[in-house]
Order: sequence, then structure tokens, then C-alpha cells
Amino acid sequence: MSENMPMIPAPRIRKAVFPVAGLGTRFLPATKTVPKEMLPIVDRPLIQYAVDEAIAAGCDTLVFITNRYKHAVADYFDRAYELEQRLASGGKTDLLQKVRDVLPEGVNAVFVTQPEARGLGHAVLCAKPVVGDEPFAVMLPDDVIWNRGGPGALAQMADLAQREGGSVVAVQPVPREQTGSYGIVATDAFTDRHGRISGIVEKPEPALAPSQLAVVGRYILEPRIFALLEQTTPGKGGEIQLTDAIAALLAERPVHAYRFHGTRFDCGTHIGLVEATIRFALDNEAISDQARQAMQRALDELGVADSR
Ligand code: UTP
Repeated sequence: MSENMPMIPAPRIRKAVFPVAGLGTRFLPATKTVPKEMLPIVDRPLIQYAVDEAIAAGCDTLVFITNRYKHAVADYFDRAYELEQRLASGGKTDLLQKVRDVLPEGVNAVFVTQPEARGLGHAVLCAKPVVGDEPFAVMLPDDVIWNRGGPGALAQMADLAQREGGSVVAVQPVPREQTGSYGIVATDAFTDRHGRISGIVEKPEPALAPSQLAVVGRYILEPRIFALLEQTTPGKGGEIQLTDAIAALLAERPVHAYRFHGTRFDCGTHIGLVEATIRFALDNEAISDQARQAMQRALDELGVADSR
């Protein structure tokens, strides 16, 4: 395929892949039994925020890459008949609606096993038989992106993919000392929040990073990525890296970096989950006043002087 071929308008994405087969070691011991993706922010698990964002972007097929320790994820998206019956007969319609909204009608959930945690790239490759030959989204649920009142990050990216064709990777600037925690991109000059990627490296040392633009957990990928993943050998950390396959893709096809509107919380870290909890609690009408008071009490009792 040549990039000089006339650009056929890209079809809108319908399938979203959620790789949730990682070990979640940073949240041990909680993740000994509770998958990281099921940790809640207020009353909803992390996975629900990502699923809602995918559905809002137009996806109707959700592909979860799981393993034998993640039954809770599949159970969560299953119908809970007995519970629903009880809520219905008890007149608890609000709660019933919340339970039903987990997976709205017309949206399908598909579960694919990744037998061994061989890396994010390998997890995405496991989705190939379900995704087939169409562009698709990859969403990492520990990146929660909040765009209050506006379209979600994936919807913004889907618009760009439809306008420009090719693949789209969400990016945000990070301090130089943090480049070793991310995939980092080199790009052409940005117009209107996006620029074409010319290079991508996984977790570079700060001195070797080509920029401070870090990839965060939202991608729209053309299906060509699967063939490239099949050829990808284990990279950093001995894992099959999605970054390496994207590096091969951008030699053939346009891949855009996109700076989304919204705030990203890295809920794969302790402080990221705490910050997201604070933000969503303060933004939740039912508990915002109490949340504000609780935070004030905590600051008073622990002593603001101690806040170093
Ligand atoms: P992370 O690097 O966050 O790893 O994976 P992790 O295992 O989830 O968490 P820590 O670092 O041990 O605390 C990024 C994403 O890729 C998925 C993870 O589930 C997460 O959504 N993943 C990673 C897989 O699905 N399979 C893998 O083999 C590796």
C-alpha cells in the first residue's frame, strides 16, 4: 500500500478493543483478587468510563482481551437477572437503570483470551479474528479522560480519522524526566491539535527522547497493524510492544498524533486514581458538598502546615 494512493474516506470505527489482561502489579495487593479495571472511581469501575467513551464515539462492538484472573470483568458485563428482578420489584428504578446502562442495548461484548501476558502489542493482536479488516479503537481503561461537557477523547479522534484517514494516537505533553514511562513521538508541525508522526520510541531515557509528547491509552488503528504485530519481535521489557508495530506502520501509512481536549488521569498509579476520585466526587452533584467538606476536614486535621 502506498501513501500516494488517493485517500478513500475512512469508515467510522465500530469496534473498540480493551486490553485488560495485564497483571496490574502496581495495585497489589488489591489486584490479587480485584482486576485493576474493576477499581472504582466513586460508583463505577474504571472499565465503565472507557466503555462509555467508546460507545459515545459510535462503537457497538467491545472486544475485551482478558485472562483467567479477570472473570470479574466478564461477569460485570453479563446480565444480573436476579439483582434486576429485586431492584424492579422493590421499585428501585434509578438503580435498575444504572445496572442496565452498564451495557446498553445494541452493544455487543466479546471476550478473547490472552493466555500469557506477552505485552500490549500481543494483547491487541489477540483481537484480530474479531476485528477483521476494518479500522478499530484500542482503549486502555487505566487512562481515564475527562472532557467535561464536551465530546470524549475517542470521539474527537474518530472525527480526525474520518477527516484525514490513517491512524490516530492520543498524545499529551509530559515533563522530560517522565519520558521513560511512555511511548514518545516525533511529529511534523501541529495544525489544529494534530501532527503527522515521523517517529515513535517506547520509554526512552529523557536525554534520548525525540520530544516530550507522550502516547496515552487511546488509539485508532488501521487493520494493517495486525500483520505488523505478527512480525514484531519482543522489545522493551521482553514484551511485544504496540509502539514497535506503530513504528513500522508509520513507514507505510499516515499516523497522526492528536492532542485531545480533556484531562487525563493515569489511574494505573495510586495518585492518578486518587486524583480522579477527587475530581469526579467534586463534580458529582449528589456528593460534591460533602466531598468538599471532607477534603477541608482532612486538610485541617492533618494540618495544612504539614503539607510540605
Ligand atoms: P500496563 O503497562 O499498565 O501493565 O499495561 P499492567 O499489567 O496493567 O499494570 P502494572 O504496570 O503491572 O501495574 C497497559 C495495558 O495493557 C494491558 C493491561 O491490562 C493494560 O490495560 N496488557 C498489558 C494486556 O492486556 N496484556 C499484556 O500482556 C500486557
